[in-house]
Amino acid sequence: MKFDTPATANVIDKMTVVGQPVDRIDGKAKTTGTAPYAYERHDVAPNAAYGYILGAAIAKGRIEQIDLAQAQRSPGVLAIVTYKTAGKLGKAQAHTAKLLAGPEVQHFDQAVAVVVAETFEQARAGAKLIKVSYAKAKGGYDLAAAKAGAIKPQENEFSGHADTAVGDFSGAFAHAPVKLDATYTTPDQCHAMMEPHATTAAWTGDKLTLWTSNQMIAWAVRDMSQTLLIPKENIHVMSPYVGGGFGSKLWVRSDALMAALGARAARRPVKVALARPQVFNNTTHRPATIQRIRIGADRAGKILAIGHESWSGDLAGGGPETAANQTRLLYAGANRMTAHRLATLDLPEGNAMRAPGEAPGLMALEIAMDEMAEKLRMDPVEFRILNDTQFDPEVGPKRPFSHRDLIGCLRTGAERFGWSRRVPTPGQVRDGRWLVGMGMAAAFRGNVPMKSAARVGVDGKGVVTVATDMTDIGTGSYTVIAQTAAEMMGVPVDKVIVLLGDSRFPVSAGSGGQWGGNSATAGVYAACVKLREAIAGKLGFDPDKVVFEDGKVRSGRRSVSLAKAVGAAGLSAEDVIEFGDLDKTYAQATFGGHFAEVGVDADTGEIRVRKMSGAFAAGRILNPKSARSQVIGAMTMGVGAALMEEAVIDQRFGYFVNHDMAEYQVPVHADIPHQDVFFLDEADAKSSPMKAKGVGELGICGVAAAVANAVYNACGVRIREYPLTLDKVLKGMASV
Ligand code: MOS
Repeated sequence: MKFDTPATANVIDKMTVVGQPVDRIDGKAKTTGTAPYAYERHDVAPNAAYGYILGAAIAKGRIEQIDLAQAQRSPGVLAIVTYKTAGKLGKAQAHTAKLLAGPEVQHFDQAVAVVVAETFEQARAGAKLIKVSYAKAKGGYDLAAAKAGAIKPQENEFSGHADTAVGDFSGAFAHAPVKLDATYTTPDQCHAMMEPHATTAAWTGDKLTLWTSNQMIAWAVRDMSQTLLIPKENIHVMSPYVGGGFGSKLWVRSDALMAALGARAARRPVKVALARPQVFNNTTHRPATIQRIRIGADRAGKILAIGHESWSGDLAGGGPETAANQTRLLYAGANRMTAHRLATLDLPEGNAMRAPGEAPGLMALEIAMDEMAEKLRMDPVEFRILNDTQFDPEVGPKRPFSHRDLIGCLRTGAERFGWSRRVPTPGQVRDGRWLVGMGMAAAFRGNVPMKSAARVGVDGKGVVTVATDMTDIGTGSYTVIAQTAAEMMGVPVDKVIVLLGDSRFPVSAGSGGQWGGNSATAGVYAACVKLREAIAGKLGFDPDKVVFEDGKVRSGRRSVSLAKAVGAAGLSAEDVIEFGDLDKTYAQATFGGHFAEVGVDADTGEIRVRKMSGAFAAGRILNPKSARSQVIGAMTMGVGAALMEEAVIDQRFGYFVNHDMAEYQVPVHADIPHQDVFFLDEADAKSSPMKAKGVGELGICGVAAAVANAVYNACGVRIREYPLTLDKVLKGMASV
């Protein structure tokens, strides 16, 4: 199905199943421990051996020698694979660094060897006995130091243009009566998902099967094919359950490659899970940024000039954190510029983490907007509303938004939160030892429709089965797909079986960039349309008049049960939704408003978030329960970004020191107050036949700035370097 004109009325509009708060259909399997994750495939690989990865002990340089003698004699060790014994390997285009080092080492903890043994402990003990000598080279690990040498990055479909410019930014900024020129920093952050990267690998002849934890099945097959230099047809990837990804599992990592190599060498299935420190240093992270923002406005608050420059670093050949992207679309203003600059750093690969670009970009931009509102003596909500735009401000009115209700989000959020109680002057509200403040920020995240295929069948008992390689990374994909098929085929959700995460199924959008929910259900919609036509055709019903409802197929006065209609053999159909230019003709995005109340301890500077509200406009909400859960999780992650998260670099050795869940701080329940989440009732006919967009990443966008702005309102300390730790608060309070 081609989707190149806006959707008209369709079956999904009935919203008898879609749009309802249906419980997770995978919930029982997950909560009873019967959903098998990648490392738990005892059923399919009962005789699996265990692999343990030895990572590089230097960040940059060469391996001079590897002495395996002692490790090979260690109890239980079956095989050891290094670059010398791995056979010829390629590098997938999607990977910046190779998954297996040698002889060159590109970053700390890059895999140097996998030791395969009968037990995990034996494999780990064996790995400790490998002696590697390195020729260490000097690396660069400090973004601030490398910033001067940063270059204009290469442009691709994900990062978009490096630079944009409209009008006369410098002139307009220079002459603006009210202006701000400030620099903000965000640190390196790690995904910290619950399930580490893990793979069980098994070979049958020259065919490889991988049970792995991955967001994008077709990319996994492609990248393993490019790395192992074997045809894609010989690789079967399964990832039916994923314990969180947040972008770190968009691409296969070393667990998949080293499990495959270990299994080939040991002639046994092999399981490899990354130990938590390896998740931090062996995989990817959200790169640190330095962001300079300049905003100039007239005295009434109209933005005349807006500029956003962002610097980030990555390994040679990597890409930028596109932190200025949202500034191209969020606020009006005739004179504008954005720029991304990329420094070479020898840290582990920087890459996507929940809302790459917008998440760190809004951490800076939305503080800058708060600072401007203060300079203008305007309410921060009203300042944003005054500068709303209904079209892409870089292009003009000929590129309107498909649907944009940022104003609705800000007004509704303010109302639900009780924003009118805010005292604009900082440091005025006290509750015992706590200085209390309120802050807000806008949320913005692009909507990216992605091609997605599915197969839908009805069997002789009237049971509907959907198969697609879509993944459910904790987001609710199983459930919204079941709801879509149930609505389309006129059956209850419990008559739908959803099969996901298998490379033998039709290729879906996968889970990334918050495109999964809308795109994958649209693919299921397309397959259902085809199946409905086939069933109507078989019955001789007019396909335009046929109704699928209550397990029956009706046309006029004729009615047949769905089971009877398809016959004993059943019927199935496969289709793919392909998106035309509607996301180019129209700017497509999702919107929100975050509101936070914090308490800052007047003596210690400790910050506690006391209350949070968010209102969001993201097209049709396919399942308000799973969508709310997504946003609650994202708001929690935003609080982590505001107050805690920072992967600290050891500048001597070039690695993240706080590489575990004891030292890399993320919020726990006690850190998070009640969260109020509200979705505006809307449908975006230009996004897909589902009229939905995405919420999984929108929820984190802007949260940290809302917290930072609340901290400022509480105690008058403006912190521009995340995270907002109490040492920074205390230093500021001393000088207020
Ligand atoms: Mo997302 S960071 O594209 O999984």
